[in-house]
Amino acid sequence: MTGAPTDTPPGARGLGAALAALESARRATLALADADDAELTAQHSPLMSPLVWDLAHVGQQEEHWLLGVADPGRDPVFHPAVACLYDAFEHPRATRTLLPLLDPAASRRALAEVRGRVLDALERARPDDGHFPAGMVAQHEFQHGETMLATHNLRAGDPLLVPTPVPPGRLVPADAVLVPAGPFPLGADPAAEPWALDNELPQHEVHVPAFRIARVPVTNGEWSGFVAAGGYDDPRLWTAEGWAHRGEQGLRAPMAWEPDGAGWWTQRRFGAVRAVDPAEPVQHVDFHEAQAYARWAGARLPTEVEWEKACVWDPAAGRRRRWPWGSGPATPARANLGGTALGPARVGAYPAGASAYGVEQMIGDVWEWTSSVFAPWPGFSTMLYADYSAPFFDGRYRVLRGGAWSTAADAVRPSFRNWDLPVRRQIFTGLRLAWDA
Ligand code: AVJ
Ligand code: FE
Repeated sequence: MTGAPTDTPPGARGLGAALAALESARRATLALADADDAELTAQHSPLMSPLVWDLAHVGQQEEHWLLGVADPGRDPVFHPAVACLYDAFEHPRATRTLLPLLDPAASRRALAEVRGRVLDALERARPDDGHFPAGMVAQHEFQHGETMLATHNLRAGDPLLVPTPVPPGRLVPADAVLVPAGPFPLGADPAAEPWALDNELPQHEVHVPAFRIARVPVTNGEWSGFVAAGGYDDPRLWTAEGWAHRGEQGLRAPMAWEPDGAGWWTQRRFGAVRAVDPAEPVQHVDFHEAQAYARWAGARLPTEVEWEKACVWDPAAGRRRRWPWGSGPATPARANLGGTALGPARVGAYPAGASAYGVEQMIGDVWEWTSSVFAPWPGFSTMLYADYSAPFFDGRYRVLRGGAWSTAADAVRPSFRNWDLPVRRQIFTGLRLAWDA
């Protein structure tokens, strides 16, 4: 396949990387569950599970995929009657506090017991293998870390989490870059990305017509212009479905924006109320709002294929990069990832993270809505966790790309595809504009 990266060291995803990812996911999970039992067992929002459900669920899934599949006859940590409480398909989020869940202490003990057994098994494993199951389980735990962050963000009361600093923004031209028409190898190369999940595969060549894409994400300042211009009150900007949703929910601004009484806005974030920063990427808008904004701006959302090409294609070298900036790791100077900033950095904060086309902040900061419906690539086949993607290929979900400040570097790639319902905005979502060329 043309465009296969040659810059990834072999074994970049071996046993050592799997152990490090499992360890770092667990550190994040335990930090997000470092609260008293009342906080952990409460239903903070009907959209979210109690934190203690996510806490035990990651251990139950780890046991299932890394121990149970190979040896179903063993004496489990999560016995079947307990394990089934943590089946996400069986129990909607709003009903999980009604279940006889493990309490926080029992959940932590179960997590530690599973992890001990997993480490024993991995001690006997081949160091040069890609360790896809362990990489998959680490990514699953990181994904629940993002879910737990969304729960923390929605809870009432004083802050429990303290943000870490991010680099300052800089003035960036509010322009767009041209991506000329041409072939592009879409999706992950499994030789370079052995932890790519089923929906990123197989890599296949597509022809992408020329398009333009914005250099940086849409900011709060720009979004406030849409609000002030009556964007939320103009049905011509909305699809019929979006307009109906906007009416039912009474949408008038991004989630948790409130007028400050002096012509500007505040936003509640992780229990702290602060003035909306006009230079930050807008966060907490749903797909319908993003589409209406794009129409108001004389633009459209990018397709996920356009997004991926602008992110990783190196037109001079004629191949994909591993990351937008090249082959080096995701560092704090290149991208806002890792879940501790508690919000996006201002636009212009990551010149070192720019793609070959000069597009910035594609990885990290905010998940970016695309116009694409979540659907399999041609030749799709399910992975070990067969119900990870396939149940969501029903046409109701839209694709989000690039990860947010809430995402771990090990849980996002340029080929990574996230999805959610078009009405959801409690996750850390924003947008970037695109135009036909
Ligand atoms: C990939 C983020 C859409 O959290 O709903 C977690 C991932 N799947 N456990 C989700 C997932 C099973 C999923 N997303
Ligand atoms: Fe899960």
